[in-house]
Amino acid sequence: MEITRILVVGSGAMGSQIAMVCALTGLEVSVQDLAEASLEKAQTELRSRMDRSVAKGRIGADERDLAFARITFGTDLPAAAKGADFVIEAAVEKLEVKRELFAELDRLTPEHTILATNSSSFVPSKIADATSRPDRVVNMHFFNPALVMRCVEVVRGPQTSDATVATTVELAERIGKLPVVLDKEIPGFVANRLLNAVRDEAIRLLEGGYASVEAIDTAARTALGHPMGPFELMDLTGIDIGYHTKQARYDETGDPADLPSRSVTEKVERGELGRKTGTGWYDYTEQGDH
Ligand code: 3HC
Repeated sequence: MEITRILVVGSGAMGSQIAMVCALTGLEVSVQDLAEASLEKAQTELRSRMDRSVAKGRIGADERDLAFARITFGTDLPAAAKGADFVIEAAVEKLEVKRELFAELDRLTPEHTILATNSSSFVPSKIADATSRPDRVVNMHFFNPALVMRCVEVVRGPQTSDATVATTVELAERIGKLPVVLDKEIPGFVANRLLNAVRDEAIRLLEGGYASVEAIDTAARTALGHPMGPFELMDLTGIDIGYHTKQARYDETGDPADLPSRSVTEKVERGELGRKTGTGWYDYTEQGDH
């Protein structure tokens, strides 16, 4: 199926960068959100990122301008959904919100449209039955920062069709990503499951008083060659994101081992969520050292 028009629902860090990745490769993109403020922030942040890319000579000014010209930002979901060939939902990680959104998208989009979710927590079968097209529901999971990270996990549920998987893989390749297909759904998919194992161990070491945040991050970077330590990475992706993912897993399993850790819960309660709030495991304010 020829994909030309993408609808991205949600204009947070993920949604906005996913939209730009698509626009940079010639696709027409509509970014829809409920909140005008979020749309404005998305545009300002994308603008400064892309200006930096131009300043560094990675892309030309005309390429940047053409990409922006291909993206429309708005709050009129019904109008945007009408023309979409492929939807990438990057809204809040709450199952009920996603199910309602998918039911609405099912009503609003043409019959051929594939409804993908960028969710890192919810597998296709949690969402697909809210629609009348479970064969065209799939996870298309990007990584933060989406403009940079090459992997995109394509997760099929029991009802996802081969054609949907093939189209999603083709789209990922077209936008310059490297698709990794999961043949069977599992919460956390591949990369986050690997990451969570490292993260859980890092927190165990910290809470047990074995080593500091800085020491653990340094070991991950210099002994294992990770580009960032697990705490630096939590600060990048948002400590609240990991917290909600764990909480959602616990709600599903009831296993206390899945609960968010004490130190992460404390950070979330204090509103210290990482780079976006200026403080997380490290301090990002001007006086800060990171
Ligand atoms: N948004 C967009 N671009 C960014 C960015 C951001 N937040 N942060 C950095 N970049 C870009 C920079 O512009 C830079 O490009 P340029 O040099 O061409 O201008 C490039 O990335 C490299 O940045 P830096 O030189 O500042 O720093 P690094 O070399 O350390 O790279 C990094 C930054 C790419 C973020 C790298 O540290 C890295 O790969 N970190 C690990 C990221 C990771 O593991 N992501 C997965 C998270 S898990 C996830 O997303 C799951 C989801 O479900 C939550």
